Amino acid sequence: MEKKIVVGVSGGIAAYKSVTLVSLLVKRGYEVRVVMTPSATKFVSPLTFQTMSRNRVYTDTFSEEDPGVVSHIDVADFPSLVVVAPATANLLGKVAGGIADEMLSTVLLATTAPVLFVPAMNVHMYTHPAVQENLQRLRRWGYGILEPAEGLLACGYTGKGRMEEPERIFQFIEDFFQGRVFLKSPNPASRGLPQDLAGKRILITAGPTQEALDPVRYLTNRSSGKMGYALARAARERGAEVRLISGPSTLLPPSGVERISVRSAEEMYAQVMRYLPEADWFIAAAAVADYRPKVFETQKMKKKGESLLLELVPTPDILKAAGERKRKDQILIGFAAETEHLEAYAREKLLKKNLDFIIANNVTEEGAGFDSDTNHVLLLSKRGERKDFPLMEKTSLAHLLLDEIIKGQGEPK
Ligand code: CTP
Repeated sequence: MEKKIVVGVSGGIAAYKSVTLVSLLVKRGYEVRVVMTPSATKFVSPLTFQTMSRNRVYTDTFSEEDPGVVSHIDVADFPSLVVVAPATANLLGKVAGGIADEMLSTVLLATTAPVLFVPAMNVHMYTHPAVQENLQRLRRWGYGILEPAEGLLACGYTGKGRMEEPERIFQFIEDFFQGRVFLKSPNPASRGLPQDLAGKRILITAGPTQEALDPVRYLTNRSSGKMGYALARAARERGAEVRLISGPSTLLPPSGVERISVRSAEEMYAQVMRYLPEADWFIAAAAVADYRPKVFETQKMKKKGESLLLELVPTPDILKAAGERKRKDQILIGFAAETEHLEAYAREKLLKKNLDFIIANNVTEEGAGFDSDTNHVLLLSKRGERKDFPLMEKTSLAHLLLDEIIKGQGEPK
Protein backbone atom coordinates (compact mmCIF):
# COMPACT_ATOMS: atom_id res chain seq x y z
CA MET A 1 0.00 0.00 0.00
CA GLU A 2 1.36 3.42 -0.91
CA LYS A 3 2.07 5.61 2.10
CA LYS A 4 -0.30 8.34 0.98
CA ILE A 5 -2.58 10.01 3.48
CA VAL A 6 -5.13 12.76 3.44
CA VAL A 7 -5.42 14.47 6.81
CA GLY A 8 -8.73 16.23 7.17
CA VAL A 9 -8.94 18.98 9.76
CA SER A 10 -12.27 20.33 10.94
CA GLY A 11 -12.90 23.32 13.16
CA GLY A 12 -12.00 22.51 16.74
CA ILE A 13 -9.31 23.73 19.06
CA ALA A 14 -7.65 20.29 18.78
CA ALA A 15 -6.70 21.31 15.21
CA TYR A 16 -3.34 22.45 16.59
CA LYS A 17 -2.55 18.83 17.58
CA SER A 18 -2.94 17.76 13.96
CA VAL A 19 0.10 19.85 13.10
CA THR A 20 2.13 17.42 15.22
CA LEU A 21 0.40 14.49 13.53
CA VAL A 22 1.29 15.77 10.06
CA SER A 23 4.85 16.39 11.17
CA LEU A 24 5.15 12.81 12.53
CA LEU A 25 3.76 11.40 9.30
CA VAL A 26 6.05 13.39 7.03
CA LYS A 27 9.09 12.42 9.14
CA ARG A 28 8.17 8.77 8.72
CA GLY A 29 7.98 9.01 4.95
CA TYR A 30 4.25 9.45 4.39
CA GLU A 31 3.08 11.73 1.63
CA VAL A 32 0.45 13.94 3.22
CA ARG A 33 -2.16 16.23 1.76
CA VAL A 34 -4.15 18.33 4.20
CA VAL A 35 -7.76 19.35 3.67
CA MET A 36 -9.24 21.94 6.05
CA THR A 37 -12.77 23.10 6.65
CA PRO A 38 -13.24 26.90 6.66
CA SER A 39 -13.68 26.84 10.45
CA ALA A 40 -10.48 24.88 10.90
CA THR A 41 -8.61 27.77 9.28
CA LYS A 42 -9.78 29.99 12.17
CA PHE A 43 -7.76 27.82 14.56
CA VAL A 44 -4.65 27.05 12.53
CA SER A 45 -3.40 28.78 9.44
CA PRO A 46 -3.26 26.70 6.25
CA LEU A 47 0.30 27.95 5.89
CA THR A 48 1.27 25.97 9.01
CA PHE A 49 -0.01 22.75 7.46
CA GLN A 50 1.47 23.63 4.10
CA THR A 51 4.90 24.05 5.70
CA MET A 52 4.58 20.82 7.69
CA SER A 53 3.20 18.70 4.85
CA ARG A 54 5.32 20.32 2.13
CA ASN A 55 2.20 20.22 0.02
CA ARG A 56 -0.57 22.54 -1.01
CA VAL A 57 -3.41 22.70 1.56
CA TYR A 58 -6.99 22.38 0.30
CA THR A 59 -9.58 24.67 1.87
CA ASP A 60 -11.92 25.61 -0.93
CA THR A 61 -13.79 23.30 -3.30
CA PHE A 62 -13.94 26.01 -5.92
CA SER A 63 -10.34 27.04 -5.94
CA GLU A 64 -9.19 25.01 -8.91
CA GLU A 65 -5.50 25.84 -9.16
CA ASP A 66 -4.65 23.08 -11.62
CA PRO A 67 -6.90 23.18 -14.69
CA GLY A 68 -5.86 19.62 -15.51
CA VAL A 69 -7.74 18.07 -12.59
CA VAL A 70 -10.91 18.52 -10.54
CA SER A 71 -9.28 19.10 -7.20
CA HIS A 72 -11.79 17.45 -4.83
CA ILE A 73 -11.77 14.27 -6.92
CA ASP A 74 -8.02 14.41 -7.30
CA VAL A 75 -7.59 14.65 -3.52
CA ALA A 76 -10.25 11.97 -2.91
CA ASP A 77 -8.49 9.53 -5.27
CA PHE A 78 -5.00 10.17 -3.89
CA PRO A 79 -4.78 8.46 -0.48
CA SER A 80 -4.59 4.93 0.86
CA LEU A 81 -6.15 6.27 4.07
CA VAL A 82 -8.01 9.39 5.17
CA VAL A 83 -7.67 10.53 8.77
CA VAL A 84 -9.95 13.27 10.03
CA ALA A 85 -8.50 14.85 13.17
CA PRO A 86 -10.18 16.56 14.83
CA ALA A 87 -13.59 15.41 13.65
CA THR A 88 -16.13 17.83 15.07
CA ALA A 89 -19.76 17.01 15.83
CA ASN A 90 -20.72 19.10 12.81
CA LEU A 91 -18.37 17.32 10.41
CA LEU A 92 -19.50 13.88 11.66
CA GLY A 93 -23.12 14.94 11.25
CA LYS A 94 -22.49 16.07 7.71
CA VAL A 95 -20.85 12.81 6.68
CA ALA A 96 -23.57 10.77 8.40
CA GLY A 97 -26.12 12.80 6.45
CA GLY A 98 -24.31 12.62 3.12
CA ILE A 99 -23.76 16.38 3.02
CA ALA A 100 -20.87 17.76 1.02
CA ASP A 101 -20.88 21.53 1.39
CA GLU A 102 -17.19 22.33 1.67
CA MET A 103 -13.94 20.75 0.59
CA LEU A 104 -13.47 18.23 3.41
CA SER A 105 -16.99 16.79 3.45
CA THR A 106 -16.92 16.66 -0.37
CA VAL A 107 -13.65 14.71 -0.37
CA LEU A 108 -15.08 12.35 2.26
CA LEU A 109 -18.07 11.59 0.07
CA ALA A 110 -15.95 11.14 -3.04
CA THR A 111 -13.15 9.00 -1.66
CA THR A 112 -13.04 5.23 -1.85
CA ALA A 113 -10.22 4.99 0.69
CA PRO A 114 -10.84 3.82 4.26
CA VAL A 115 -11.49 6.69 6.66
CA LEU A 116 -10.59 7.12 10.32
CA PHE A 117 -12.38 9.77 12.36
CA VAL A 118 -10.77 11.13 15.51
CA PRO A 119 -13.61 13.00 17.23
CA ALA A 120 -13.02 15.95 19.53
CA MET A 121 -15.69 18.08 21.15
CA ASN A 122 -17.25 19.25 24.38
CA VAL A 123 -18.40 16.33 26.55
CA HIS A 124 -22.06 17.39 26.39
CA MET A 125 -21.93 17.59 22.62
CA TYR A 126 -20.33 14.15 22.58
CA THR A 127 -23.07 12.56 24.69
CA HIS A 128 -25.87 14.15 22.64
CA PRO A 129 -27.96 11.44 20.97
CA ALA A 130 -27.56 13.12 17.59
CA VAL A 131 -23.79 12.73 17.79
CA GLN A 132 -24.01 9.22 19.25
CA GLU A 133 -26.41 8.07 16.56
CA ASN A 134 -24.26 9.61 13.85
CA LEU A 135 -21.22 7.80 15.22
CA GLN A 136 -23.13 4.55 15.30
CA ARG A 137 -24.26 5.03 11.75
CA LEU A 138 -20.75 5.83 10.57
CA ARG A 139 -19.39 2.74 12.34
CA ARG A 140 -22.05 0.61 10.72
CA TRP A 141 -21.02 1.92 7.31
CA GLY A 142 -17.46 0.87 8.00
CA TYR A 143 -15.79 4.12 9.12
CA GLY A 144 -13.11 3.80 11.79
CA ILE A 145 -13.57 5.88 14.92
CA LEU A 146 -10.78 6.55 17.37
CA GLU A 147 -12.80 7.33 20.49
CA PRO A 148 -12.03 10.56 22.30
CA ALA A 149 -10.16 10.31 25.57
CA GLU A 150 -11.37 11.39 29.01
CA GLY A 151 -9.80 14.43 30.60
CA LEU A 152 -9.81 18.15 31.00
CA LEU A 153 -11.31 19.76 27.92
CA ALA A 154 -10.35 23.11 26.45
CA CYS A 155 -13.84 24.41 27.27
CA GLY A 156 -13.18 23.88 30.99
CA TYR A 157 -15.26 20.72 31.40
CA THR A 158 -13.82 17.40 32.39
CA GLY A 159 -15.07 14.36 30.52
CA LYS A 160 -14.98 12.43 27.29
CA GLY A 161 -14.33 14.55 24.23
CA ARG A 162 -10.61 15.22 24.15
CA MET A 163 -9.00 14.30 20.89
CA GLU A 164 -6.61 11.36 21.03
CA GLU A 165 -2.97 12.39 21.19
CA PRO A 166 -1.15 12.65 17.84
CA GLU A 167 1.22 9.83 18.85
CA ARG A 168 -1.72 7.48 19.39
CA ILE A 169 -3.27 8.45 16.02
CA PHE A 170 0.11 7.99 14.38
CA GLN A 171 0.38 4.52 15.95
CA PHE A 172 -3.03 3.61 14.53
CA ILE A 173 -1.91 4.73 11.08
CA GLU A 174 1.30 2.69 11.32
CA ASP A 175 -0.74 -0.34 12.44
CA PHE A 176 -3.06 0.16 9.50
CA PHE A 177 -0.24 0.35 6.95
CA GLN A 178 1.50 -2.65 8.46
CA GLY A 179 -1.70 -4.68 8.34
CA ARG A 180 -2.12 -4.97 12.11
CA VAL A 181 -5.49 -3.23 12.07
CA PHE A 182 -8.05 -3.65 9.40
CA LEU A 183 -10.16 -0.78 8.09
CA LYS A 184 -12.30 -1.07 5.01
CA SER A 185 -13.66 1.68 2.88
CA PRO A 186 -17.33 2.36 3.55
CA ASN A 187 -17.75 2.88 -0.16
CA PRO A 188 -18.47 -0.43 -1.93
CA ALA A 189 -17.11 0.96 -5.19
CA SER A 190 -13.64 0.64 -3.69
CA ARG A 191 -13.57 -3.12 -3.95
CA GLY A 192 -13.94 -3.07 -7.66
CA LEU A 193 -17.07 -5.18 -7.51
CA PRO A 194 -19.90 -4.49 -9.91
CA GLN A 195 -22.53 -2.35 -8.27
CA ASP A 196 -25.23 -4.45 -9.88
CA LEU A 197 -27.42 -4.52 -6.78
CA ALA A 198 -27.40 -0.76 -6.22
CA GLY A 199 -30.85 0.44 -5.27
CA LYS A 200 -32.04 -3.05 -4.31
CA ARG A 201 -33.37 -3.66 -0.84
CA ILE A 202 -32.51 -7.13 0.35
CA LEU A 203 -33.83 -8.79 3.47
CA ILE A 204 -31.91 -11.81 4.74
CA THR A 205 -32.48 -14.20 7.64
CA ALA A 206 -29.51 -16.07 9.05
CA GLY A 207 -28.38 -18.30 11.89
CA PRO A 208 -30.33 -20.64 14.11
CA THR A 209 -33.29 -19.85 16.31
CA GLN A 210 -33.57 -20.63 20.00
CA GLU A 211 -36.86 -21.91 21.32
CA ALA A 212 -36.98 -21.45 25.07
CA LEU A 213 -38.18 -24.15 27.46
CA ASP A 214 -37.63 -22.16 30.60
CA PRO A 215 -35.48 -19.14 31.54
CA VAL A 216 -32.26 -21.13 31.16
CA ARG A 217 -32.89 -23.79 28.51
CA TYR A 218 -33.74 -23.81 24.85
CA LEU A 219 -33.91 -25.96 21.75
CA THR A 220 -31.71 -24.93 18.85
CA ASN A 221 -29.69 -26.31 15.92
CA ARG A 222 -26.12 -26.23 14.65
CA SER A 223 -26.42 -23.36 12.20
CA SER A 224 -23.65 -20.76 12.54
CA GLY A 225 -25.13 -18.11 10.26
CA LYS A 226 -22.04 -18.11 7.99
CA MET A 227 -23.90 -18.60 4.70
CA GLY A 228 -26.49 -15.90 5.46
CA TYR A 229 -23.84 -13.46 6.68
CA ALA A 230 -21.71 -14.13 3.59
CA LEU A 231 -24.70 -13.34 1.38
CA ALA A 232 -25.42 -10.18 3.37
CA ARG A 233 -21.82 -9.02 2.96
CA ALA A 234 -21.68 -9.86 -0.73
CA ALA A 235 -24.98 -8.11 -1.48
CA ARG A 236 -23.86 -5.04 0.44
CA GLU A 237 -20.54 -4.99 -1.40
CA ARG A 238 -22.48 -4.92 -4.65
CA GLY A 239 -24.46 -1.90 -3.62
CA ALA A 240 -27.61 -3.36 -2.10
CA GLU A 241 -29.21 -1.99 1.03
CA VAL A 242 -29.16 -5.03 3.27
CA ARG A 243 -31.13 -5.83 6.40
CA LEU A 244 -30.05 -8.97 8.20
CA ILE A 245 -32.41 -10.59 10.67
CA SER A 246 -30.19 -12.88 12.63
CA GLY A 247 -30.74 -15.57 15.19
CA PRO A 248 -28.06 -15.92 17.90
CA SER A 249 -24.68 -15.96 16.17
CA THR A 250 -21.12 -15.13 17.18
CA LEU A 251 -20.47 -13.49 13.81
CA LEU A 252 -20.00 -9.75 13.51
CA PRO A 253 -22.44 -7.95 11.25
CA PRO A 254 -20.82 -7.08 7.91
CA SER A 255 -20.09 -3.37 7.66
CA GLY A 256 -22.88 -1.35 6.19
CA VAL A 257 -25.46 -4.02 6.94
CA GLU A 258 -28.26 -3.35 9.38
CA ARG A 259 -28.54 -6.32 11.73
CA ILE A 260 -31.63 -7.05 13.75
CA SER A 261 -31.03 -9.70 16.41
CA VAL A 262 -33.76 -12.14 17.34
CA ARG A 263 -33.95 -15.40 19.26
CA SER A 264 -37.06 -17.39 18.50
CA ALA A 265 -38.79 -18.31 15.26
CA GLU A 266 -41.71 -16.16 16.33
CA GLU A 267 -39.49 -13.10 16.85
CA MET A 268 -37.87 -13.73 13.48
CA TYR A 269 -41.29 -14.05 11.87
CA ALA A 270 -42.42 -10.72 13.36
CA GLN A 271 -39.31 -8.88 12.12
CA VAL A 272 -39.51 -10.40 8.65
CA MET A 273 -43.17 -9.45 8.32
CA ARG A 274 -42.30 -5.94 9.41
CA TYR A 275 -39.64 -5.42 6.75
CA LEU A 276 -40.83 -7.70 3.96
CA PRO A 277 -43.14 -5.16 2.27
CA GLU A 278 -40.20 -2.89 1.48
CA ALA A 279 -37.85 -5.68 0.32
CA ASP A 280 -37.07 -6.39 -3.33
CA TRP A 281 -35.47 -9.69 -2.43
CA PHE A 282 -35.95 -11.94 0.57
CA ILE A 283 -33.29 -14.58 1.20
CA ALA A 284 -34.23 -17.05 3.93
CA ALA A 285 -30.90 -18.52 4.99
CA ALA A 286 -31.84 -19.04 8.64
CA ALA A 287 -32.21 -22.52 10.07
CA VAL A 288 -35.52 -21.83 11.72
CA ALA A 289 -36.77 -24.34 14.29
CA ASP A 290 -39.89 -26.01 12.94
CA TYR A 291 -41.20 -26.64 16.46
CA ARG A 292 -41.06 -24.95 19.82
CA PRO A 293 -41.99 -26.16 23.30
CA LYS A 294 -45.75 -25.81 23.77
CA VAL A 295 -45.33 -24.18 27.17
CA PHE A 296 -42.68 -21.82 28.33
CA GLU A 297 -42.04 -22.50 32.02
CA THR A 298 -41.52 -19.13 33.66
CA GLN A 299 -39.51 -20.75 36.48
CA LYS A 300 -36.54 -23.02 35.91
CA MET A 301 -37.82 -26.59 35.50
CA LYS A 302 -36.90 -28.97 38.31
CA LYS A 303 -35.84 -32.55 37.85
CA LYS A 304 -38.70 -34.94 38.47
CA GLY A 305 -39.21 -38.60 37.63
CA GLU A 306 -37.28 -40.85 35.32
CA SER A 307 -38.27 -39.38 32.00
CA LEU A 308 -39.52 -36.11 30.65
CA LEU A 309 -41.90 -35.77 27.77
CA LEU A 310 -41.74 -32.50 25.91
CA GLU A 311 -44.71 -31.34 23.92
CA LEU A 312 -43.78 -29.29 20.86
CA VAL A 313 -45.97 -27.18 18.62
CA PRO A 314 -45.15 -25.82 15.13
CA THR A 315 -43.57 -22.42 14.68
CA PRO A 316 -44.69 -20.11 11.87
CA ASP A 317 -43.09 -20.97 8.53
CA ILE A 318 -41.61 -17.58 7.72
CA LEU A 319 -40.64 -18.30 4.14
CA LYS A 320 -43.97 -19.90 3.33
CA ALA A 321 -45.78 -16.88 4.74
CA ALA A 322 -43.56 -14.64 2.60
CA GLY A 323 -44.46 -16.79 -0.43
CA GLU A 324 -48.14 -16.28 0.26
CA ARG A 325 -47.73 -12.52 0.41
CA LYS A 326 -45.25 -12.29 -2.46
CA ARG A 327 -45.58 -9.31 -4.75
CA LYS A 328 -45.01 -9.76 -8.46
CA ASP A 329 -41.80 -7.74 -8.34
CA GLN A 330 -40.41 -9.53 -5.29
CA ILE A 331 -37.86 -12.32 -5.48
CA LEU A 332 -37.86 -15.03 -2.84
CA ILE A 333 -34.89 -17.29 -2.25
CA GLY A 334 -35.00 -20.22 0.14
CA PHE A 335 -32.59 -22.85 1.39
CA ALA A 336 -33.07 -26.55 1.68
CA ALA A 337 -30.77 -28.49 3.97
CA GLU A 338 -31.33 -32.13 3.23
CA THR A 339 -29.77 -35.47 4.06
CA GLU A 340 -31.29 -37.41 1.14
CA HIS A 341 -33.21 -36.88 -2.13
CA LEU A 342 -31.66 -33.41 -2.33
CA GLU A 343 -33.02 -32.26 -5.66
CA ALA A 344 -36.50 -33.71 -5.33
CA TYR A 345 -37.06 -32.32 -1.83
CA ALA A 346 -35.63 -28.95 -2.80
CA ARG A 347 -37.86 -28.67 -5.86
CA GLU A 348 -40.85 -29.56 -3.73
CA LYS A 349 -40.03 -26.70 -1.33
CA LEU A 350 -39.50 -24.31 -4.23
CA LEU A 351 -43.06 -24.94 -5.38
CA LYS A 352 -44.72 -25.29 -1.98
CA LYS A 353 -43.31 -22.04 -0.68
CA ASN A 354 -43.82 -20.12 -3.95
CA LEU A 355 -40.11 -19.32 -4.35
CA ASP A 356 -38.10 -18.03 -7.28
CA PHE A 357 -34.91 -19.84 -6.27
CA ILE A 358 -33.86 -22.49 -3.83
CA ILE A 359 -30.33 -23.24 -2.70
CA ALA A 360 -30.01 -26.87 -1.69
CA ASN A 361 -27.22 -28.59 0.14
CA ASN A 362 -26.67 -32.03 1.53
CA VAL A 363 -25.69 -31.43 5.13
CA THR A 364 -24.18 -34.89 5.55
CA GLU A 365 -21.57 -34.15 2.90
CA GLU A 366 -18.03 -33.31 4.05
CA GLY A 367 -17.47 -29.51 3.94
CA ALA A 368 -21.10 -28.67 3.20
CA GLY A 369 -22.65 -28.99 6.63
CA PHE A 370 -23.51 -26.53 9.36
CA ASP A 371 -20.80 -24.29 10.77
CA SER A 372 -18.47 -25.07 7.88
CA ASP A 373 -16.60 -22.28 6.08
CA THR A 374 -17.28 -24.02 2.80
CA ASN A 375 -20.41 -25.24 1.11
CA HIS A 376 -21.47 -27.32 -1.85
CA VAL A 377 -24.84 -26.28 -3.21
CA LEU A 378 -27.27 -26.81 -5.99
CA LEU A 379 -29.28 -23.82 -7.19
CA LEU A 380 -32.70 -24.44 -8.69
CA SER A 381 -35.00 -21.82 -10.10
CA LYS A 382 -38.72 -21.61 -10.68
CA ARG A 383 -38.00 -21.29 -14.40
CA GLY A 384 -36.25 -24.64 -14.37
CA GLU A 385 -32.61 -23.51 -14.30
CA ARG A 386 -30.27 -25.77 -12.41
CA LYS A 387 -26.68 -25.07 -11.39
CA ASP A 388 -24.41 -27.29 -9.36
CA PHE A 389 -21.60 -25.30 -7.74
CA PRO A 390 -18.36 -26.99 -6.72
CA LEU A 391 -17.36 -27.10 -3.05
CA MET A 392 -16.02 -23.63 -2.18
CA GLU A 393 -15.69 -20.93 0.48
CA LYS A 394 -19.04 -19.53 1.51
CA THR A 395 -17.75 -15.99 0.92
CA SER A 396 -16.98 -16.72 -2.76
CA LEU A 397 -20.06 -18.85 -3.18
CA ALA A 398 -22.21 -15.95 -1.99
CA HIS A 399 -21.04 -13.83 -4.94
CA LEU A 400 -21.58 -16.61 -7.46
CA LEU A 401 -25.08 -17.22 -6.13
CA LEU A 402 -25.87 -13.52 -6.47
CA ASP A 403 -24.52 -13.61 -10.05
CA GLU A 404 -26.87 -16.46 -10.92
CA ILE A 405 -29.88 -14.90 -9.22
CA ILE A 406 -29.32 -11.61 -11.04
CA LYS A 407 -28.89 -13.48 -14.33
CA GLY A 408 -31.96 -15.61 -13.71
CA GLN A 409 -34.00 -12.47 -13.25
CA GLY A 410 -32.88 -10.75 -16.41
CA GLU A 411 -31.56 -7.26 -15.94
CA PRO A 412 -31.48 -6.24 -12.26
CA LYS A 413 -34.26 -3.76 -11.61
N1 CTP B 1 -37.93 -21.56 6.94
C1 CTP B 1 -38.60 -20.48 7.46
N2 CTP B 1 -39.38 -20.63 8.57
C2 CTP B 1 -39.53 -21.80 9.17
C3 CTP B 1 -38.84 -22.90 8.65
C4 CTP B 1 -38.07 -22.75 7.54
O1 CTP B 1 -38.47 -19.40 6.92
N3 CTP B 1 -40.28 -21.92 10.24
C5 CTP B 1 -37.13 -21.41 5.73
C6 CTP B 1 -35.64 -21.61 5.93
O2 CTP B 1 -35.00 -20.39 6.20
C7 CTP B 1 -35.21 -22.21 4.61
C8 CTP B 1 -36.41 -23.03 4.19
O3 CTP B 1 -37.52 -22.42 4.81
O4 CTP B 1 -35.03 -21.20 3.63
C9 CTP B 1 -36.27 -24.44 4.64
O5 CTP B 1 -37.44 -25.09 4.41
P1 CTP B 1 -38.09 -26.11 5.43
O6 CTP B 1 -39.27 -26.66 4.77
O7 CTP B 1 -38.40 -25.56 6.74
O8 CTP B 1 -36.93 -27.08 5.67
P2 CTP B 1 -36.96 -28.17 6.74
O9 CTP B 1 -37.18 -27.64 8.11
O10 CTP B 1 -35.73 -28.94 6.53
O11 CTP B 1 -38.31 -28.86 6.30
P3 CTP B 1 -38.73 -30.36 6.04
O12 CTP B 1 -38.86 -30.93 7.37
O13 CTP B 1 -39.98 -30.20 5.28
O14 CTP B 1 -37.61 -30.93 5.21
